[in-house]
Amino acid sequence: MDGRVRVALVSGATGAIGKAIARQIAAQPGTEVILACRNEEKARQAIREIVEAPGNRRVRYELVDVSRKASVYGLAARCRGPLHVLVNNAAVTPRRRQETPEGVELQFATNVLGYFWMIQAFTEHLRQSAPSRVVNVASYWAGDLDLTDLEFRRRRYDNNEAYRQSKQADRMLTVAFAQRLKPYSISINACHPGDVNSHLSNNLGFGGHQTPDEGARTPAWLALEPIGQEQTGKYFEQMREIRCPFAADRNLMNGLYEACLRF
Ligand SMILES: NC(=O)c1ccc[n+]([C@@H]2O[C@H](COP(=O)([O-])OP(=O)(O)OC[C@H]3O[C@@H](n4cnc5c(N)ncnc54)[C@H](OP(=O)(O)O)[C@@H]3O)[C@@H](O)[C@H]2O)c1
Repeated sequence: MDGRVRVALVSGATGAIGKAIARQIAAQPGTEVILACRNEEKARQAIREIVEAPGNRRVRYELVDVSRKASVYGLAARCRGPLHVLVNNAAVTPRRRQETPEGVELQFATNVLGYFWMIQAFTEHLRQSAPSRVVNVASYWAGDLDLTDLEFRRRRYDNNEAYRQSKQADRMLTVAFAQRLKPYSISINACHPGDVNSHLSNNLGFGGHQTPDEGARTPAWLALEPIGQEQTGKYFEQMREIRCPFAADRNLMNGLYEACLRF
């Protein structure tokens, strides 16, 4: 630590895991945390809870709907200061198929494009603050990505299938971005947080046997510790690197990246 404040932005910081990630980052001296949230009342409440815990009081919020490209780019335009850590965490699992006002299926828009746009929109901030890093909160519950039907227009919508696809996409985009961000000294890694009882997990029919603070440990560790800077394009569970089978499929990865660019 060289005495300068390190700024971290956490999306979905009103949720179970995101709030705990923000609190754990805020507990470190010399950090400022921006909660990127869509609900102002919940954001204010999250700040009250975070500043009650031991740590510093440099916590504020910015409103954003990560499922909408204009909102994400609007946020990036408003945030003019440095950014050392971007934590992509906001996600949804609606039981019925929904679309954004722009007509994009909501899980794909939030869980995949939301991460993609935040990285794209904040690359310049991260580049100017380099060395800097991105943490993508993904999941081990991932798979069956269908590049020909990313928005469940052909397949019958099932929120578990759409979720698993979205989390595979988060892990693949982590690898796709790693090579692109490396020249700017921006590292990017993905992780499974923990199994935590939340709105998101309940919608999928799961509970969760870990506390939010336990679930936040791996993402917060990647956000704060040297490993999150030294490694890039990797996937972690329980603070250990795990070989990610999705990283091997370069064609699918590049196809997904190109598909995201078209939105
Ligand atoms: N819980 C688990 O067991 C588990 C397991 C593996 C991975 N994960 C991952 O962990 C992350 C957090 O999940 P969680 O369990 O903490 O879920 P959660 O409690 O339901 O929180 C989700 C957060 O995302 C926010 N959000 C949703 N859509 C948004 C949008 N369009 N714009 C801005 N914010 C939006 C929500 O805001 P509101 O408060 O306004 O709704 C909330 O803050 C997700 O990426 C999830 O895939 C969770």
